[in-house]
Amino acid sequence: MDKNKADLWQGKWISSPKAIVSEEPEFTLEEMFSGQLKPQLPVDERLHPVVYFKKIFELTQPVKKANLEITAQGIYQAFINGRKVTEAVFTPDYTDYHDFLQYQTFDVRDQLIEGNNSLCVEVADGWYAGRISVQGGSCQFGNQLALLADLKIELQDGSKLVIGTDNTFSTGDGKHRYADIDIGEKQDLRLDDEWLKNNQDFSESAVEITADYSRLSAQEGPLVFRNQALSSQKIWEEEAELVVDFGQVIAGRVRLTAVFPQNKEVVIKHSEVLDENGKFFQNIIGRNKDQTDIFIGNGKEETVEPDFTFHGFRYVKISGLKRSNLTKIEAIPIYSNMSETGWIETSNSKINQLLSNIKWSQRGNMLSIPTDCPQRERVGWTGDMQVFAPASTFYLNTNQFIKRWLKNVRIDQRSNGEIIDYSPAPKDAAKSVEFTGSYSSAGWGDAIIMVPWTLYQRFDDKEALAENYDSMVKWFNFSKESAAGDKTDDRKYLWDTKFHYGDWMLPSLMMESGGNPMATSKATKELVATTFLKHSSELMAEISDLLGHDSTAYRQYADKVKAAFIKYYITEDSRLVSDYQGCYVLALAFDMVPAEKKPELVERLVQKIHDNGDCLDTGFLATPYLLDVLTDNGETELAAELFLQAKCPSWMYEVDQGATTIWETWSGIQPDGKVGQFSFNHYSMGCVLDWFVRKVIGMNSTKPGFKEIKIFPQVQVCDQLKSIFDSPNGLIKVEINYQNRFDLTVSLPEKMKAIICLPYKNEEMKKEIMHKYSMGVLNSASKCVEVAVEAGKYHFAY
Ligand code: BGC
Repeated sequence: MDKNKADLWQGKWISSPKAIVSEEPEFTLEEMFSGQLKPQLPVDERLHPVVYFKKIFELTQPVKKANLEITAQGIYQAFINGRKVTEAVFTPDYTDYHDFLQYQTFDVRDQLIEGNNSLCVEVADGWYAGRISVQGGSCQFGNQLALLADLKIELQDGSKLVIGTDNTFSTGDGKHRYADIDIGEKQDLRLDDEWLKNNQDFSESAVEITADYSRLSAQEGPLVFRNQALSSQKIWEEEAELVVDFGQVIAGRVRLTAVFPQNKEVVIKHSEVLDENGKFFQNIIGRNKDQTDIFIGNGKEETVEPDFTFHGFRYVKISGLKRSNLTKIEAIPIYSNMSETGWIETSNSKINQLLSNIKWSQRGNMLSIPTDCPQRERVGWTGDMQVFAPASTFYLNTNQFIKRWLKNVRIDQRSNGEIIDYSPAPKDAAKSVEFTGSYSSAGWGDAIIMVPWTLYQRFDDKEALAENYDSMVKWFNFSKESAAGDKTDDRKYLWDTKFHYGDWMLPSLMMESGGNPMATSKATKELVATTFLKHSSELMAEISDLLGHDSTAYRQYADKVKAAFIKYYITEDSRLVSDYQGCYVLALAFDMVPAEKKPELVERLVQKIHDNGDCLDTGFLATPYLLDVLTDNGETELAAELFLQAKCPSWMYEVDQGATTIWETWSGIQPDGKVGQFSFNHYSMGCVLDWFVRKVIGMNSTKPGFKEIKIFPQVQVCDQLKSIFDSPNGLIKVEINYQNRFDLTVSLPEKMKAIICLPYKNEEMKKEIMHKYSMGVLNSASKCVEVAVEAGKYHFAY
């Protein structure tokens, strides 16, 4: 049961007069995107020291059991007798704090002793009060840092006591001179950590404050941890500064061992790319996106690391430190702790690099919440999660992580049913409407339907559907009404009434408009929004059936949307009125096209790809379906070609440019070498992993949660590949070798049933398969022979 009432806690919410965070001045998105910067005070004057709380207490006997239940307004780090109570960082995680604030429980028995003990907690601004909004606004959930804790102890004789936070705690500050989750952290190494260990209180007492208990709930889903450190690959000097390359773009921070010159500032700036001349280049712009940590030296050798901030980077530039004073520097990747479930290796090193880039972008953008990028906006854009959700289920078990995030999405849903653009929603999210004219967008808001559907498919988690169902219905009703507007004829089934991001970041339009993504919205939004309206109504029908609700109206509505789409958006000569690759892709993927016109629309899509030099020209929403649409419509070779394409824009272009994560825009580094001020760590275009798993490795779940699977390698992009997937129903192994002949080995876990589709290129091959594997042959479909198998290891070669 959640401790969500005051009387379930012995502790009271405590704070300190120094725990009030200053509000950043008003700054609009318009101002930000037009490159303006408001004058602002230096960071030292705007930010404040991390707030420390301390309690000394005596235990008269050894301890039998002890748990610390703890949370904060802000992010906290807790210590008992000088030792951290957990290696988790950024607790209590990022949620919609007004309505949903998690507390954590840690077993601390081994840390307590008979005699004097201390409980020390450091609270920093974090997401609660830090400068986290898209436009760098602070105090997004409140302006007062606070702490709530119960340390529950059972002594050897069975007697129990609780040390709850109250005004007998003392409060002060120390080496953390400021710490902002986005800007960075400043530590004064002249101030040591003695306070964590000694038996001395601070001179000031904590104050009890009134704060809400009803929003509290026990931790759901994974905590955030630091992971295996990456060592520096190269260090060089740029004038008097040191530049370090860690060889990998990550979200995290550096740990360095060095002699820190007495009273001098060592300043560490973070970046994801170098410029065209190989020099350090700050790729992230915007207010309060400094990504800078500072250490004031004490003249000694120290190993330091920030505690309450993280950055998106591969390179750091350090000033104030001589190379001879630097002993060791490492990069520490930080992400939410989810079990690793997928592994792939191919004979093509570029493919391996691309897959690694996707994995790292997933890690970097799954730090507490799923984000667009870990350095600039760092917000839970619904569209980005929608696009990447299927792919996200391969390398990591993301089920609980995504479900927790969806709870925020539900909390933020507006009373008219709108699913707002990102969740958790900082206060400034309300200002987006001044910029785009809307809180929501098709393809983004549809995350509330599409993401739980993915979780159900991949993890067999029906609860993900049930707990989001009401919100889905409300969003769907909003979409329908919004599309209808005041229209009375069948145009009311077209969603042409409001702002949508459309096929966002569509490459050719980005180029033509000089990098203005609003141009991609304008050109594609109506058609794209209408495809999502139909797709979501079909999913609503399926989900309603599964949960025992009436689905008739959803199916009828989907038919009407399709009819209107055909009537108004497909021309006589089988073109779309928005004649872009992505529009064809979505129209075909979501079955918006009459059967007789389908071949011509496929042909047009193929033509457009050829006209574009055999390069894709799809944005955020269409890219996940591009290669599937080609594969499913007989264009397997073109799908393989697009996947392997190395001209800009393409996945392999980024790999050739040295990418170690997936970029926000294909032309982050342009063919002429020019480097843009973009994010180089956006997982959205990594959605191609899902196609790769289903169509190249051929691993498909045909009954939710991989209860039954189909193995059908349809596209050849390399000579050999091996993959292991720890599905919710057990370990699946697939090995394919195309050298000389087709050679497939599949291992299936106990209780798993599978259909293995053996592809053939000609009738002779088909005959050979039928003859060799006659035992299990189910039927011979158009492109393959289907063989039914159950748990075990199988080898096919022909
Ligand atoms: C973000 C995206 C997001 C988009 C909304 C961008 O600035 O980085 O990933 O989905 O805005 O259109």
